[in-house]
Amino acid sequence: METHEIVERFTNHFVNAGHTRVASASLILDDPTLLFVNAGMVPFKPYLLGEVPPPYPRATSIQKCVRTGDIDEVGKTTRHNTFFQMAGNFSFGDYFKAGAIENAWNLVTGSQDSGGFGFDPDRIWVTVYQDDDEAIELWRKIAGLPTERIQRRDGKDNYWDMGVPGPGGPCSEIYYDRGPEYGKEGGPVVDEDRYLEIWNLVFMQDVRGDLSPKLGHPPIGELPSKNIDTGMGVERVAYLLQGVVNVYETDLIRPVIARAEEFSGKRYGADPTDDVRFRVIADHARSGVMIIGDGVTPSNEARGYVLRRLLRRIVRSARLLGVHEPVLEAFAEVVRDAMAPSYPELVTDFERIAAVVRAEEDAFLQTLTSGSRIFDTAVERVKKSGSLILPGDQAFALHDTYGFPIDLTLEMASEAGLQVDETGFRALMNEQRTRAKADAAARKTGHGDMSAYRSVLDSHGVTDFLGYTDLSAEATVVGLLVDGQAVPAASEGTAVEVVLDRTPFYAEAGGQQADSGTLRSDSFTVRIDDVQSPVAGLRVHRGTVTNGTLTLDSTVIAEVDPMRRGAISRAHTATHLVHAGLRNALGSSAAQAGSLNAPGRLRFDFTSPGGAVSPAALNEIEDEVNTVLQQDREVEWYETSMDEARKLGAMMLFGEKYGDRVRVVDMGDYSRELCGGTHVARTGELGLVKVLSEASIGSGVRRVEALVGLDAFRHMSKEHLLVSQLADQLKSRPEDLPDRVAGLVERLRGAERDLEKHRAEAVLASANSLAEGAEDLGGTALVAVAAPAGLSGNDLRVLATDVRGRLGSRPGVVALFSAADDKLSFVVATTEAARNNGLAAGKLVPAFASAIGGRGGGKAELAQGGGSNPAGIPEAVRALRTAVRDASSAG
Ligand code: ALA
Repeated sequence: METHEIVERFTNHFVNAGHTRVASASLILDDPTLLFVNAGMVPFKPYLLGEVPPPYPRATSIQKCVRTGDIDEVGKTTRHNTFFQMAGNFSFGDYFKAGAIENAWNLVTGSQDSGGFGFDPDRIWVTVYQDDDEAIELWRKIAGLPTERIQRRDGKDNYWDMGVPGPGGPCSEIYYDRGPEYGKEGGPVVDEDRYLEIWNLVFMQDVRGDLSPKLGHPPIGELPSKNIDTGMGVERVAYLLQGVVNVYETDLIRPVIARAEEFSGKRYGADPTDDVRFRVIADHARSGVMIIGDGVTPSNEARGYVLRRLLRRIVRSARLLGVHEPVLEAFAEVVRDAMAPSYPELVTDFERIAAVVRAEEDAFLQTLTSGSRIFDTAVERVKKSGSLILPGDQAFALHDTYGFPIDLTLEMASEAGLQVDETGFRALMNEQRTRAKADAAARKTGHGDMSAYRSVLDSHGVTDFLGYTDLSAEATVVGLLVDGQAVPAASEGTAVEVVLDRTPFYAEAGGQQADSGTLRSDSFTVRIDDVQSPVAGLRVHRGTVTNGTLTLDSTVIAEVDPMRRGAISRAHTATHLVHAGLRNALGSSAAQAGSLNAPGRLRFDFTSPGGAVSPAALNEIEDEVNTVLQQDREVEWYETSMDEARKLGAMMLFGEKYGDRVRVVDMGDYSRELCGGTHVARTGELGLVKVLSEASIGSGVRRVEALVGLDAFRHMSKEHLLVSQLADQLKSRPEDLPDRVAGLVERLRGAERDLEKHRAEAVLASANSLAEGAEDLGGTALVAVAAPAGLSGNDLRVLATDVRGRLGSRPGVVALFSAADDKLSFVVATTEAARNNGLAAGKLVPAFASAIGGRGGGKAELAQGGGSNPAGIPEAVRALRTAVRDASSAG
């Protein structure tokens, strides 16, 4: 049974049982506790916690999941997978244990003809939480399972929570006995290889605190209702139903291995070491593509870094299989084809995905080449010194300077038989991070501890946002924090965080900067400089009490600074227009990768498989956008269902969490996007959009910056003034300026060339007078002088050789010094006769070197060098004189 059919059967089974089918959420949700969605229940967390009333009592989903806790283990066994699909059914205060058990049992053991999976009921075992007699009873009654195939286990195995504070509950797991060839008798408590877990039913009823009930700590509360959360491992069921031994052999993954076999000419299954590489490639290619599909691009932080590791491990593994050509795009194609039946967006979005992997592979291959060289040298040095440990600072340098990920260093070091001083490395990394982030962190997140915010959210619910229509509103202070602690009041001069029950203030989100403004009443004023949403749903106003005393529960007039908001809204509307313009010009692969909407200016990052956007194309886009401004289109916004928005063709940002109701911002048929930001009413209000630049910001992502409205006008007006001034100075018409400047540059170069020639001639012309000025020191002619300042080493040598030539067959020494700023260079040359008398140029250098703070050396006929003390030249000349005289009289 193909995987796609398995998920269809699962969905149909639960839809027939009254569940609402809910599409998989993006892997990237706005949950600060999670890097990636790692279980089917994650998108339903607000319903389970009772934060938001569930729109349906029962739901079913096939959720994409990524778990990256043990990337290093992937491939070493056949058990770990970073990407998997979790099929689940959920009840929010509707059915509980009995319903969950009955639904699961019927699907697992129902005949294949009737839509079930057709597993042999006699091979099914289950486990329950230690004292859950109720579950044991239900399994016996509903499924008719004999008691010996129901096993009790403690919290470690049969309590489930998210690994962080939140919903949790005891669970019951369903296992399939693969038979004696896979391991020992005795059920899952004895052997989890033979008895393979396929489905986890969680009886979700508790609120877990900081410590997990898994380890025996009591939950800190009860959820508002008793819920069901289940997770069936789609990949596991697939390999059982496909009659293969593990997930790597299934229809979703084997094709990637097959492609790697073609590339390498090696066979999977022939060599255990190679097999690890094959599995790494197969696993990571799938997660990599799915993660990029949800909008992540490789970077050095958080999700982007996980993605980078995954992609780079693929490339490395392919290399170790002997493949040296680019591979990522080819593997991505195979993943696309295998996954497309369930995820059609991989096909429509493939050009973007391919662009991301191509860029990352290019960058990594360059890194590999340069970094490997440094790495080899470092290893050699370590080994020579008799150590077995690569020092932390070298691992850090590889990371910092050559972009070598630490895990790669670790892997290569272990292949070279070395260990890495990881502690030292981490210490250096931390130092660097702390330095770089101290400022940003202080501003953005404020306090690492979110509990104060959570408790405001728990007692007062989400903040109503009024700012789409109102810039001023009356509201009540429901939360007041100073230094992260809840306080009843704050007096003049105090930096505060204020939560209101409703607010017109926009909290920084989706690239749009926060509003500023004031909270006022008869007895106080608070200046608000920033608004953030540290936990979803809550808007936290940050500012300072400028007058009076602010108290909890008081009524305020919340007033947004209309100038700033107006300028930000104009920038945001302009961003949508630039986005639409880019897509019109470049096609749909120009997908948004990030944006900034600040007062009067915007930044828009997008994927560009084709590389740079040409200046001509950029010009056209700008022209088109400004035409739309002139058309003065109405900017409309409305809420609708996700499905409807999709049908309308609204552009959506990958990786953004969208609920069932989404907000669409529409500018006629020119632009239609899902967006939570604020906008102007008509495009004409923007006045003018001026694109300033377009540049790469790495990994196939490019950035456009633009100014909007008066800011755009002022910029252009300043440039206009500049051009007029230049035209004036150069006595040229503005349109002739480029030619005029090019002409000037050309003439300047010619003049420099002439000057250089004259200088060289002058230097050489001085050779004759220098030779004539030679003094006689005991029969040796010595020319020791400071030559014109600023001569290059080369000039100096040519001049010295020329002077020496003019000394003819006499014993002679020529020493020339030339100073430039606080440095000098010198040349010493000797004639053949002098050399015959034992005067060698190289040997003369030490006689005067200390006087000029210098060093240098050379052969008998010519030596040269430099020094740091030009003031010592006379002293050096004297020293040289003495040395030559001594040598001559001795000769
Ligand atoms: N949330 C449960 C799990 O992930 C079903 O196993």
